[in-house]
Amino acid sequence: MEVDRQRLRSLKGVKWSKYGPDVIPAWVADMDFSPSPRVLAEIQKMVDLGDFGYRYHDVDLLIPAWCEWVEELHGWLPPAEECRVFTSSMNALEAVMLLHTEPGDGVVLFSPIYMPFRAAIEQAGRTVVDVQLQGPDWKFDGNRFKDALDSKARVVLFCQPHNPTGHTYTREEINDFAEIAAEHNLIVISDEIWADLVFDGNKHLSLFPNDDNLSDRTVTIGSASKAFNLAGARCCVAHVGSVSTRSQLAEYPDHYFGLPSSFGSAVTLTAWKHGRAWLQDVKEQIQRNRDFIYSRILEDSSGLTMHLPESTYLAWLDFSNTSLSRQPSKELLHKAQIALEPGEKFGEQYGSFARMNFATGIDIVEELLERMFKALNS
Ligand SMILES: Cc1ncc(COP(=O)(O)O)c(C=O)c1O
Repeated sequence: MEVDRQRLRSLKGVKWSKYGPDVIPAWVADMDFSPSPRVLAEIQKMVDLGDFGYRYHDVDLLIPAWCEWVEELHGWLPPAEECRVFTSSMNALEAVMLLHTEPGDGVVLFSPIYMPFRAAIEQAGRTVVDVQLQGPDWKFDGNRFKDALDSKARVVLFCQPHNPTGHTYTREEINDFAEIAAEHNLIVISDEIWADLVFDGNKHLSLFPNDDNLSDRTVTIGSASKAFNLAGARCCVAHVGSVSTRSQLAEYPDHYFGLPSSFGSAVTLTAWKHGRAWLQDVKEQIQRNRDFIYSRILEDSSGLTMHLPESTYLAWLDFSNTSLSRQPSKELLHKAQIALEPGEKFGEQYGSFARMNFATGIDIVEELLERMFKALNS
């Protein structure tokens, strides 16, 4: 998987346009790889024909296409009649959270966590119930979860594979989680949009089919946005396993919570129907990058550490024992011209961490690490 720096520098997306030409951006979760040729050809066809009209038929095909994809990759077949299409993952997550909560109700998240989860809860006037995961491996801890719950908790936001740590939850962790979620009668929103990017030796286990306690309380969110580098296309499918959520959603017309555009539907369908080989190449590249980064960090004596992510293309870097332990991303932007995502965005206690996106060419990874270690060791 090659990346073309000239192409990257001319992209209008935020990742490459936010900073000047001296900076290597490794922050927001977009890949540097061009989307698959099949996806590009599909868009090209739309452009050549000026074909931007309604595509209701494509929207209708999204659910069966996702269900087949999930069965092929993850071994369970979501019942199509229980699924619903949304514009984006956050759109689905917020819609379900709002349906099941009143202002003041508690919504659980596991920090560090993808920053919009917290914002979604706070902006809706709900109360964040913050359960902190423990480094270095960021495993689920049932006792911490139990201790954080009170009678006001209604919903739990689960993110797996987990952004930013790249942790893929094991069956044991899922079963522990499920038992507590059921005891407290919580609705579980399981954001699984990173599911297709799990590294060799690990397996993504969807929550819904892997524990009976979860069957009537879980909403599973899927999307092609992360695995196929299509975040701007805006398209998402959710399996609504909770009967009460299904009946609440059914009271609203399909478009009430947002639908994908013709563009979003067309590229997503193409990705799920024809994207398997392309995705395999991407996974091999990001796994090589991950291994390279991990071994370079182990060799280096700056004090930097990192949990080896089991999935995603995100490295959650711990700078606590380095010379740049305070605001490392800010320091590194200034001293090394590399843009990482600041740790405090994922929870205020993570100020000495930063998230690095490594979905790029190995030459860029090498340059990025060289700049980072130079700044850390100077
Ligand atoms: C875990 C997680 N959920 C949701 C999103 C956002 O998805 P969308 O743009 O479809 O709302 C991201 C983006 O990186 C993410 O990592």
